Amino acid sequence: MRANFPVKAFEGIDTPFYYYDADLLRETLATALREASKHKGYHVHYAVKANFNPQILSMVCKQGLGADCVSGGEVQAALAAGISPDKIVFAGVGKTDKEISLAIDAGIFCLNAESIPEIQAIERLSAAKSAVTQIAIRINPNVGAHTHANITTGLAENKFGINYEQLDDVLSVIDSCKHVKLIGLHFHIGSQILVMDDFIALCNRVNELQIHLRDNKGIILPHVNVGGGLGIRYDAPDEYDVPDFRLYFDTYAKHLHLFEGQQLHFELGRSLVGQCGSLITRVTYVKEGTCKKFAIVDAGMNDLVRPAMYGAYHKIENLTSSAPCDSYDVVGPVCESSDVFCKDVELPQVSRGDILAIRSAGAYGEAMAFGYNCRTLPKGYMSDTI
Ligand code: LLP
Repeated sequence: MRANFPVKAFEGIDTPFYYYDADLLRETLATALREASKHKGYHVHYAVKANFNPQILSMVCKQGLGADCVSGGEVQAALAAGISPDKIVFAGVGKTDKEISLAIDAGIFCLNAESIPEIQAIERLSAAKSAVTQIAIRINPNVGAHTHANITTGLAENKFGINYEQLDDVLSVIDSCKHVKLIGLHFHIGSQILVMDDFIALCNRVNELQIHLRDNKGIILPHVNVGGGLGIRYDAPDEYDVPDFRLYFDTYAKHLHLFEGQQLHFELGRSLVGQCGSLITRVTYVKEGTCKKFAIVDAGMNDLVRPAMYGAYHKIENLTSSAPCDSYDVVGPVCESSDVFCKDVELPQVSRGDILAIRSAGAYGEAMAFGYNCRTLPKGYMSDTI
C-alpha cells in the first residue's frame, strides 16, 4: 500500500528527522510473531542494533518479542524498555568484563560466546559472583550469503564466531568450567538476505553439526539460535511493506531438523523495523551543474550512512511536489564526496523547501547516525505521537 505521510505535520518539525509508521511497525511485529508461533518452540528476539529508539523498543516489548543485544548499552536499553531478562541474548566478539558482569547481574537468558578467552572471562566473573551463566557458542557455519561483503559474517576466516576445527578445544574448555553452562549453538550468516537458499544452506550445516555432536560426543543442547538476516525490498517499500515471514519461518521448519524439545531462536533486526522508517529531509538548494542537477538536502551521510558505507539503495520520494519528473543527484551537505544518497533519481521537479522521504530507513538508520561536522543527531518521531 502507498505510504501515507502527514506532510502538514512535518512542516512544523525541524528536518532532518526519522519518521516511523507505528501502524506498519505493529503489523510487522505482529505478523512475524504470528508466523513464528505457528511452529513449536520458535522464539523471536529483536536485534536491538537495528534501531534502539526507545519508542521502537517499547513497542517491541509490548508485542512480546525478546531482544538480541551486542553491547552492555543495548542490554540496558532493552531492560529499560521493559523486555524481560529471560528473553535477552547477548552476542559480540569483544564483550568487556564490565559488560559481562552487567549481563550476569541482570540474569539475562544467554550469552553467545565467540572465543575461548571470552568463555574463560565469563567463567572467572561468574565464579566471583557464585553464579552459573548460560552460554551458547557462536559457530561459524562457513556459509556465504548473497549480500554485501561488509554484512556477511558466516565465512570461515572472520572475526566472528568459532570455526569447526576449534570446536573440540572449546568444548573441553567449557567442560572444565563450573560456572558456565552450555545451553545452545548460535549461528548468523549475514544480513539483507532475500534468497531462501542461503538460509537452507545454513540449515543443512546446523543439521550436520547437530548429528555430529550427538553421535560423537553425546551432546544435544536445548537451544539453537540461527541469528537474523532476512532482507527487505529497498526497491519497493510500499509493495513489500511487511516481509514474507511465513516463507522465512516455513523454510526453517522444512529444512532445520530439531531434536525433541529443542527450542529455535531467531534474531531479526532489519526485517522487523526497516520498512516502517523514513528519513525526512528538506531541500536546501537545487544546484545546476554542467550536465546534472543536484538536489542538496539538509540530511547528510551522518544521518543515514548506508548509501555512503555500503552503496546501499534507498528509494527517494518528493512529498511536496507532483510536477513532471526531472533527474537529480540527491546529496547531503557533509564535506565528503561520498555524501550522496542517490544518483540520477527521477523525482517530481524539486524546488528549495520541498520535503523528501528517504524510504526503508527504519533499520541501521537512526541507530548508525553520528555527529561528523558537528551535526546534530537526528530525532525519531512515531506517527502515533507526532
Ligand atoms: N544477529 C547477529 C549476530 C548479527 O550480527 C546481526 C546483524 C543480526 C542478528 C541482525 O541481522 P538482521 O536481521 O538485521 O539482518 N549495518 C548493516 C547491517 C549490519 C548487520 C550486523 N549484524 C546495514 O546497514 O546493512
